[in-house]
Amino acid sequence: MVNAYGGILLVADVLLLILKVLYYIGEAIYRLIVPVEEKSVAGEIVLVTGAGHGIGKELALKYASLGATVVCWDLNQEGNNATVNEIKQLGKTKAYGYKCDVSNREEVFKTAEKVREEVGNVTILINNAGIMACHPFLEHTPEEIKQMLNVNVLGQCWTVQAFLPSMLQKNYGHIVALSSMCGLVGLPNVVPYCASKFAVRGLMESLEEEVRVMCQAKTIKSNINFTTIYPYMVDTGLCKKPRIRFPSIMGQVPPKEAAAKITNAQRRNIAEATIPGHWLYVNSTWRTFPRLAFHRILDFFDSGLEPAD
Ligand SMILES: NC(=O)c1ccc[n+]([C@@H]2O[C@H](COP(=O)([O-])OP(=O)(O)OC[C@H]3O[C@@H](n4cnc5c(N)ncnc54)[C@H](O)[C@@H]3O)[C@@H](O)[C@H]2O)c1
Repeated sequence: MVNAYGGILLVADVLLLILKVLYYIGEAIYRLIVPVEEKSVAGEIVLVTGAGHGIGKELALKYASLGATVVCWDLNQEGNNATVNEIKQLGKTKAYGYKCDVSNREEVFKTAEKVREEVGNVTILINNAGIMACHPFLEHTPEEIKQMLNVNVLGQCWTVQAFLPSMLQKNYGHIVALSSMCGLVGLPNVVPYCASKFAVRGLMESLEEEVRVMCQAKTIKSNINFTTIYPYMVDTGLCKKPRIRFPSIMGQVPPKEAAAKITNAQRRNIAEATIPGHWLYVNSTWRTFPRLAFHRILDFFDSGLEPAD
């Protein structure tokens, strides 16, 4: 009797699960036709790491143009100050610059404390700072490998540990991480870089899940969002010798355009986005193919990075 009752409950549970899954698939299809509106970021405190150059600089300018207070972090003080001054010249919003090496945990925590005192609680954290060395794996020096993992992975761990607690306290915030298409597909010449960008994906997915489950245990809905971005190639100079067989469909994206796509994904609470957008779906499909078929596709597109230094 007890077993039969348990069985009925299980079937009811499975049916409910199927209904919920179908509901969310339906909602996702509807959202492809009627996209979620971009939320306002006016008045938010946005911290961008690596704001002194490239995508980070354009992100800082974009958020400033949308009315957010922008906090710029970079190792390169000159570039960082230039970004802060450009924002100030826009005359729309406040901007603050701090020299900070994100790979140094102590420096991250000290600078985060300064930001809290001088600006306030960061509500949108953009983990953008990243470095790349490009040559065959066996030619990478131990220092290069350590530095890439320190900046690209541990740097993101330290900033999250510094800023997530205040977001959790208020159950409000957004963390954005720059991974790369190199975080979805492994490529020659950038093996440690790919490893670091695959790690960013794991960091973000598991962090989102941990926060979701934590909030569920408190019977509250998490209002902290996570967005991971996988750009293909952005014209910032980071990819020194790109090899692109079909530049008309796979060309380098201007950093301004990349920043617009990143802010759009963040403001629509999109969990994962590639730049260009179609690569997320194309990659997921190819991944289901047999390994050798996947290799033939990679050979056909014949695109990647030549050794550069
Ligand atoms: N450019 C591309 O094609 C491309 C493609 C995919 C992903 N990405 C990722 O996007 C992000 C930005 O790339 P980008 O092309 O704008 O790079 P970039 O080299 O133009 O700018 C990176 C900025 O980060 C800063 N930085 C480096 N190490 C730092 C550290 N330890 N602490 C603080 N700041 C530091 C640099 O000084 C620089 O201002 C990176 O994470 C990169 O991996 C770039």
